[in-house]
Amino acid sequence: MTDHYAVIGNPVDHSKSPQIHAAFARQTGQDITYDRLSAPLDAFTSTAQRFFSEGGQGLNITVPFKHEAWDLVNLHRGDALDAQAVNTIKSENGKLIGYNTDGIGLVADIKKNLRFEIAGKRVLLMGAGGATYGVVFPLLRENTKALVVVNRTLEKAQSLVQSIKKRAGAIVTSLDAAPYADLAGSTFDIVINATSAGLNGEMPSLPQGIFARDALAYDMVYGRNTPFLAFAREHGAHAVDGLGMLVEQA
Ligand code: ATR
Repeated sequence: MTDHYAVIGNPVDHSKSPQIHAAFARQTGQDITYDRLSAPLDAFTSTAQRFFSEGGQGLNITVPFKHEAWDLVNLHRGDALDAQAVNTIKSENGKLIGYNTDGIGLVADIKKNLRFEIAGKRVLLMGAGGATYGVVFPLLRENTKALVVVNRTLEKAQSLVQSIKKRAGAIVTSLDAAPYADLAGSTFDIVINATSAGLNGEMPSLPQGIFARDALAYDMVYGRNTPFLAFAREHGAHAVDGLGMLVEQA
């Protein structure tokens, strides 16, 4: 019997998830269809519910619906509860189960594929939206020396950090929120762009000298040379896009 899956988002035309999952299905001998499902911005829930009521087994969720997906599911598993965002929904015995594999994907790409150590490193995470929520906990679990969440709208970074500190208990060594203006004079070993700036050809206001020696600059956006990646190369950092994370989260 053929299993039906899809990635749901808006926009979703650019998504490489259908090719990735088709390749996994070939490798594992599964008979599946995997489509792109475009949901109107105000109709994520009804579109997802229709997909499952018509027999769909699973959805991947991309921008901007990961928070709504978290609200939709009946149960949260793995990192989904802490992330307050869901990128994978599975239908099981009439219940919708939500997972978040973004953080696992990012950590696996950095450690396994890029062979960069995260433990003991100073990490700067740019942005305070759904993409950031999904990866903060998995990064903290790697025992970063310091994790700074920087955002244009400082209050969003502050409330993210507060909510994480409340839940994280003992694993929080050093976790802070900051505005871009406070970064001058600081250096980081890993700088991760979890903003949507690159999608609009924009660059977060990073100061010169932000990269420590041999630093990794990671843009979660994939398939384009974002201004952040160009800036990183200019300043001697190893610049990497988010394709590896996409494959690992899948
Ligand atoms: P997602 O769920 O994909 O994270 P989002 O919730 O819309 O999307 O969040 C987008 C993030 O990108 C936000 O942190 C946003 O900053 P603000 O909270 O200040 O809006 C950030 N962002 C977008 N464009 C940016 C830019 N040009 N410079 C810096 N940050 C930017």
